[in-house]
Amino acid sequence: VPAALVDRFGRVHRDLRISLTDRCSLRCTYCMPADGVPWLAASTMLSTDELVRVAAVAVGLGVTEIRLTGGEPLLRADVVDVVRRMAALTGPAGSPEVSLTTNALRLPRLAAPLRDAGLARVNISIDTLDRERFRTLTRRDRLDDTLAGIAAAKAAGFSPVKLNAVAMRDVNDDEVVDLVRFAVDGGYEMRFIEQMPLDAGHTWERTRMVTQAEILDALSAAFTLTEVPGRGSAPAELWFVDGGPATVGVIASVTAPFCGACDRVRLTADGQLRSCLFARSETDLRTLVRSGADDDAVAQAFRDCLAGKRAGHDIDDPTFLQPLRPMSAIGG
Ligand code: GTP
Ligand code: 5AD
Ligand code: SF4
Repeated sequence: VPAALVDRFGRVHRDLRISLTDRCSLRCTYCMPADGVPWLAASTMLSTDELVRVAAVAVGLGVTEIRLTGGEPLLRADVVDVVRRMAALTGPAGSPEVSLTTNALRLPRLAAPLRDAGLARVNISIDTLDRERFRTLTRRDRLDDTLAGIAAAKAAGFSPVKLNAVAMRDVNDDEVVDLVRFAVDGGYEMRFIEQMPLDAGHTWERTRMVTQAEILDALSAAFTLTEVPGRGSAPAELWFVDGGPATVGVIASVTAPFCGACDRVRLTADGQLRSCLFARSETDLRTLVRSGADDDAVAQAFRDCLAGKRAGHDIDDPTFLQPLRPMSAIGG
């Protein structure tokens, strides 16, 4: 039996987040520059066969969750095929749960085929319900398309559909109550995210960040929140809204890091393994795979990558360095 993916701190890694592309149909200010994005070269992008091969090795090492991210993962032309092939993999714990984090713009067309292909869950980014704000924040006038994509995910039968909003001061921090009402009315699970230092312009400031405490304060003025027990390794802490069953979540990556329970490893679209969003080094699976390495060698590369995983992100440490890659090329 091959050893599971355990790091120096005893954390067992069961969650592989795969970025399918660094391209995106939006240009959110906290993620990408307006133009001049340093796109990954086509020749460096893993083919679908290569992606599935790497995922198969990971599943053999005990990975049970595969999350497809981007950029915008639905821009990958064969994403339905990717989902079908990954959902069909099997390992010591059976087949992985395959899920997706998306901006939803292509869901009206793709939600049903993705579900048929075996996609288990969908998380959708929506930071504001105001058209003008959406246009400023994403630099594209596509709020209606995002809303149509959210509805399409529900109509296709995905449940739960989680909605992600990065909380930003003087941008959408006055909208948290409206976003929760929208989600509760539609049967979605709203989650607010503390912004991490991953923006292209490196303008993130700790003192300007909207904190979990502020988000909960604002929500408590409108709703009765009671904590949902049993979080496990999930980044989101959940509260019942007005007694439930609806919940709201907060992902407090900065003020309440969950690194101690981290079970994630990341694969970039150009075939680099990252032990952490904030890792300072990567393991080059692309070169390995293209040089004809066998599955044992790929498995060893996973172990080598995780052997270098640090205890946490150290965002509050004076020596903290933002990763060289922009968020759009890591996958979130
Ligand atoms: P679920 O499994 O559905 O709960 O998804 P998730 O919340 O783990 O993933 P999603 O892609 O929806 O990401 C939501 C937010 O959590 C984004 O801001 C991610 O960057 C952040 N996030 C996801 N995984 C990690 C992680 O390992 N560490 C940190 N610090 N943030 C993460
Ligand atoms: N901090 C926190 N979350 C972020 N996301 C993108 N950039 C950041 C950031 N700097 C979120 C997106 C998406 C998820 C994959 O990551 O909003 O929901
Ligand atoms: Fe894991 Fe790094 Fe996220 Fe912490 S910041 S939870 S170690 S990926």
